[in-house]
Amino acid sequence: MEAHGMRIVVRYFLSELVLCLVLVFFKPVDTVEVISQTGPVISLVGDDVILPCTLISSDGPVNAAQVALEWQRADLKQEVHFYTDSRDSNVDQNPSYRGRTSLFREELKNGNISLKLTSVKLSDAGNYSCYVPSLDKEQKAFVQLVVGAVSQPVISVLGPKDDGVVLKCESGGWYPEPKMTWLDSDGSILPDGPTETQKDAAGRYTVRGEVTVKKTENNRFICRVNQQQINKIKETLIDVPDEAFAKSHGGLIAGVLIAVLHSCCCSWRCWCLHVERKKSKFNLPSILNYSQEITQNSASQSNV
Ligand SMILES: *[C@@H]1O[C@H](CO)[C@@H](O)[C@H](O)[C@H]1NC(C)=O
Ligand SMILES: *[C@@H]1O[C@H](CO)[C@@H](O)[C@H](O)[C@H]1NC(C)=O
Ligand SMILES: *[C@@H]1O[C@H](CO)[C@@H](O)[C@H](O)[C@H]1NC(C)=O
Repeated sequence: MEAHGMRIVVRYFLSELVLCLVLVFFKPVDTVEVISQTGPVISLVGDDVILPCTLISSDGPVNAAQVALEWQRADLKQEVHFYTDSRDSNVDQNPSYRGRTSLFREELKNGNISLKLTSVKLSDAGNYSCYVPSLDKEQKAFVQLVVGAVSQPVISVLGPKDDGVVLKCESGGWYPEPKMTWLDSDGSILPDGPTETQKDAAGRYTVRGEVTVKKTENNRFICRVNQQQINKIKETLIDVPDEAFAKSHGGLIAGVLIAVLHSCCCSWRCWCLHVERKKSKFNLPSILNYSQEITQNSASQSNV
């Protein structure tokens, strides 16, 4: 019995020993990876931007100060930035990046191999990769840079149309192509008129649009230009003066009706006054003033 028990203990001990040896000698080798962010990096023209990239292993960040690092753009032959022997080595750098790229030297030891790009241009947009040549060739991380441009819309009043006013909005220098929307002061979208988009030689877009607005409580209207990819909205509002609206036909007809009704009820003297006024200027305010006069007249008459 004792020998059997001893055998079980020994067998158990041996299997544990084998497991330990396996763990010590066949410990999986740390794989070093280059990683970036999945979504695109968005920048506006003229801004500075950081293209993120990290050198990391399963044990955590890897010191990158001593390794060669290369930033490339898929569509360019020459490098965007090259670092080797603990310093920048931009002899074969694409000229459009000259003096605009840098690494965070103090951060390299933490595996942060992000690239800083200053004064971003529209032509900087593209698919960038950070690459560590000493690692496996597949160890490249990609990051997409989207470059946008925006400008403030400008509204002008084109003039009255039917019983409304035609407004025009224009906004140039956008990238990518934006969308124009008209709103009233409640934020309701107005049905817009003709819209056109133009692209200039530099690739930037100008949008123009028109809308015919009707009188509202405050005659306040908003032209909104937005670009979803760069998450930018620019708005300009206008307070259209009442005088800009054509005189309403509805009001005119109502005025005429009131005048006619009063004429019928009035004395001959009132009728004469009406004809006199009609001879002068037949516009809405005079009709309203005239109606007031008649109302006062009939009131005073009924008082008699
Ligand atoms: C790298 O360092 C810079 C500067 O401190 C910092 O802004 C950036 O967020 C860092 N990037 C990563 C991926 O850690
Ligand atoms: C960038 O280029 C790589 C390699 O050609 C490709 O796998 C990746 O999908 C590209 N990324 C974008 C956003 O186009
Ligand atoms: C109407 O009356 C108002 C004040 O009662 C006056 O200011 C205005 O000039 C008048 N309009 C016309 C067209 O006579």
